[in-house]
Amino acid sequence: MFAVAVLTSACGNPINSGTGGGAGGGNAAAGPTYYKDVLPITQVSCNNCHSAGGIAPFALDTYETAKLKAPLMADAVTNKRMPPWLASKDCGGPFVGDRSLSDAQIATITQWFQNGALEGNPADAPAPVGAADALPKVDLTKQMAVAYTPTLKDDYRCFTIDPELTAEKVVTGYDISPGSRAVVHHVIMYVVNRTAAANKDAQDATPGWECFGGANVNTVGALGAWAPGGAAVVFPAGTGIRIQPNQVLALQVHYNTENAVEADQTSVKLMYGTGTERSAYLIPIVADQFSIAPNAQNYSHAEDFPNSLGFQLNVWGFLPHMHTKGKKISLTAMGTNECLVDIPRWDFHWQTQYFRKTAFQMPRTGGLHVSCTWDNPTASTVTWGEGTSDEMCFAFVYATL
Ligand code: HEC
Repeated sequence: MFAVAVLTSACGNPINSGTGGGAGGGNAAAGPTYYKDVLPITQVSCNNCHSAGGIAPFALDTYETAKLKAPLMADAVTNKRMPPWLASKDCGGPFVGDRSLSDAQIATITQWFQNGALEGNPADAPAPVGAADALPKVDLTKQMAVAYTPTLKDDYRCFTIDPELTAEKVVTGYDISPGSRAVVHHVIMYVVNRTAAANKDAQDATPGWECFGGANVNTVGALGAWAPGGAAVVFPAGTGIRIQPNQVLALQVHYNTENAVEADQTSVKLMYGTGTERSAYLIPIVADQFSIAPNAQNYSHAEDFPNSLGFQLNVWGFLPHMHTKGKKISLTAMGTNECLVDIPRWDFHWQTQYFRKTAFQMPRTGGLHVSCTWDNPTASTVTWGEGTSDEMCFAFVYATL
């Protein structure tokens, strides 16, 4: 039903065309216009994906393209499917790079559509925003040694990226660029032992090695991740993750070949600090003591992770993770129940890290409480595991002393 209503207007019959609408600029009574009201929102929150060469399937970055999609835009923002940003605004923020829209912005796009998607005056357009997505400095650019063409529908493969360090470095930011956006579903970067990775890679003639859920090899820790919409990540100022000369990166790439089969050669950029940064760690929170009964709906599981380190921790960010049966995941502070990050509608396709602007100080006697909810549409019991049909209730926590 909605589609019928929208098509009418998308075909260029503005609902209020009798009230002075159309392309005329300068009619203040006509309601929001593209250049004055909509573009300031979309150029910040939509167009890094919705432009030629972006990851979204269509552009929205000109009046003509946006007008065609106005009804879909209104529906997508009203129902909060777009822009993709899973964390609730009511918990733990403000997060760096929060691209979710305010209620006022949603109302502007909706009114613009309802008023006939008026163009307005190009002179009202805001100054263009530059690509905010680049690393401020690049110290290393490396690509997978050879291209790989995925063979399975869901193909999880790890590849070595060797930063060839001769001394310890502190990684303060990274940028992962998938070689083929058609097949790369997501990427997780792990720091692993060089010899272990080389042995694993040598086990067969195919590039890299099979891995799901982790690097499947002696792992020191995680360094970062890319999922659709992901851009360069700069760690909170004055912090970074140390890597050593005997370590390499294992790039875990999840390929999905449902829509295309083509070769990929993903590349990675790293930014190094001065060496004086505070060491940060991506601490894995593994809540694995669950068993989801066949056909269970809204099955929930929670676990506590007391701070066992003996000192206060500065918690800067979170990368929550579940598989495809996940519905919700949240982390709160033990004791105070302070909400730290809440994903009320989990979506496997939009995983990202959420960095706070200031650290949450987790006391020596505190800890984290993680809670997950799933639906199990299968006739089998589902437990923790690496397989696509298994589940996880997991988060990486980015923390410093
Ligand atoms: C991080 C990248 C990204 C950003 C930012 C983004 N989109 Fe999208 N958008 C996508 C991708 C990818 C798809 C196709 C896959 C999907 O539907 O999830 C899509 C699909 C859509 C669709 C069609 C599907 C639907 O759910 O209706 C609309 C409409 C849309 N986007 C509007 C917007 C608007 C409006 C904004 C800004 C307010 C925006 N998008 C921001 C990546 C993005």
